[in-house]
Amino acid sequence: MCGIVGAISQRDVGKLLLEGLKRLEYRGYDSAGISMINHQGQLCRLRTQGRVAKLLESFEKNPIAGTLGISHTRWATHGIPHERNAHPHQSGDDIAVVHNGIVENFETLRDQLFQSGYIFHSETDTETIAHLMHCEFQKTDDFLKAAKNVAGQLKGAFALGIINVKDPDRLIAVRCGSPLVVGIGIEENFLASDPIALVGVTQQFIFLEDGDIADVKRDKITIYDKHGKEITRDIHISELTYDSASLGEYRHFMLKEIFEQPEALRTTLGCSLNENDVSPDAFGVESKACLEKTSHVTIVACGTSHHAAMIARYWIEELAHIPCQVEIASEFRYRHVIVQPNTLFVTISQSGETADTLAALRLAKEMDYLGALTICNVPASSLVRESDFAFITRAGVEVGVASTKAFTTQLLGLLLLAVTLARSTIDKKQRAKLIQLLRELPDEIDEVLKLSERIRELADLFANKQHALFLGRGLQYPVALEGALKLKEISYIHAEGYPAGELKHGPLALVDKNMPVIAVAPSNDLLEKLKSNLQEVRARGGQLIVFADTQSGIKNGDDIITIEMPKVDNLIAPIVYTVPLQLLSYYVALIKGTDVDHPRNLAKSVTVE
Ligand code: F6R
Repeated sequence: MCGIVGAISQRDVGKLLLEGLKRLEYRGYDSAGISMINHQGQLCRLRTQGRVAKLLESFEKNPIAGTLGISHTRWATHGIPHERNAHPHQSGDDIAVVHNGIVENFETLRDQLFQSGYIFHSETDTETIAHLMHCEFQKTDDFLKAAKNVAGQLKGAFALGIINVKDPDRLIAVRCGSPLVVGIGIEENFLASDPIALVGVTQQFIFLEDGDIADVKRDKITIYDKHGKEITRDIHISELTYDSASLGEYRHFMLKEIFEQPEALRTTLGCSLNENDVSPDAFGVESKACLEKTSHVTIVACGTSHHAAMIARYWIEELAHIPCQVEIASEFRYRHVIVQPNTLFVTISQSGETADTLAALRLAKEMDYLGALTICNVPASSLVRESDFAFITRAGVEVGVASTKAFTTQLLGLLLLAVTLARSTIDKKQRAKLIQLLRELPDEIDEVLKLSERIRELADLFANKQHALFLGRGLQYPVALEGALKLKEISYIHAEGYPAGELKHGPLALVDKNMPVIAVAPSNDLLEKLKSNLQEVRARGGQLIVFADTQSGIKNGDDIITIEMPKVDNLIAPIVYTVPLQLLSYYVALIKGTDVDHPRNLAKSVTVE
């Protein structure tokens, strides 16, 4: 949610600030801007509505040369996407601010500043910060002190980058709830919402903690913690490469990431298994005692990650016979939660920065949970750093806003967790069989990817459709939910996922010839029940698209299109059946002509509540 880049150097930093923004577009893409202090000591700003490419064009025509600057790509919270609301926001010609997050008390502050004579040009909360900085700088004549005073007055979650023409040799960074890293160079230093922005510029990063203020100069970085005390933070070496952020031969990151799933699963498996079992360190070296004691599990997540949690519940209860509760993070936070003894608290997140999931973890840490485990794709993220243990999914960088490879690797991590918790319910032989099944999983996904062309043809059916229903039963019910979420988020077709047995309790009223109904139907114990539900759809003229294996006995017909899937074990079927639904959404979005990797109104890393 909004991407920040900052740089202080001896070379011109304009191109670097813009290049960084391109890599942060997954965080927001409704407007973008850059402010630099030029060689004449003036504050120069360029802002455009729309994608970063437009800002690049504008910069080509009106280049700015300077060694200190900040840039921003926006996901609107306050005020419509418009040039006037794009960051950086300025106070006079002195101070420029970029901001990620939400200032909850901005209206009160804005009123006070307005009374003092400040003029506002935007509807954003950020402009308040710029004026407040100006006001505090007037009082203190000390840039750093002014930033500290401002941070003390802001309520909410935010990350800031600030520059000031009156003190042009420093870049101030503030982190409170929203992610921010300082990149370390040689005689130059940087700032970014995510290290990916600085690939090729530096590999050394300091992850700021909540409440930190960093005073970033060309040759020195000083960090103050939330108590104002100077503090040393660890330096992390990033392994990110340029390749992870580039499209290669693919037209969209989403397609690239769908096709990367076999490799992502192989890598995740490689890091988590020993010969015949889950490696004892897969969930962190110190997790063993905690997992052995676990007799209840609570899983909290948002969106796609929440669907992974719903599938995990079936696995944990079936394999480990341990009760498992699953909850959406934004609901968990505001509920009176009763914690059962020996409950393991699990969060799931691709980004590791989702505000609601992070807040739920912080809340859980104040309660009587046995320990906090996160299943996460970003090793240096806030969730990983603040959890007791972590399972790192090795999906690699996921750029497309719609989560694909992160989801399937999360599922793998959760299945491994279920196997680990099933210490007394499945014997050594069964475990070895399960592990073998998992080793075969990447090959099964390779097989499903071969259906890509067939699914592309199918997508034509959706060209003029406004609605779609996804059905599944048991383990496949959350897969149906995930299929519906993928379709709606990237093709803007209204889609709902339902447990098929629930159809006659309401949604059947929607079914007619204009309603495609997609069913995930592997042959399992619930197949006959599902078939009866599909008959209910046929009888009402609904167009059925069914993903099923040959043993299911479901045949192509006038009103039913069957896509033949490989026959796989029921336990891994949710992972395998997710993939064709991802492909279907992708190809439908292509037909609809939407911006697949940057669907409207969405952002990849949801760092606001
Ligand atoms: C949908 C999608 C979102 C995320 C959700 C949580 O494709 O990606 O629903 O799953 O915003 O994000 P993370 O997993 O980063 O916590």
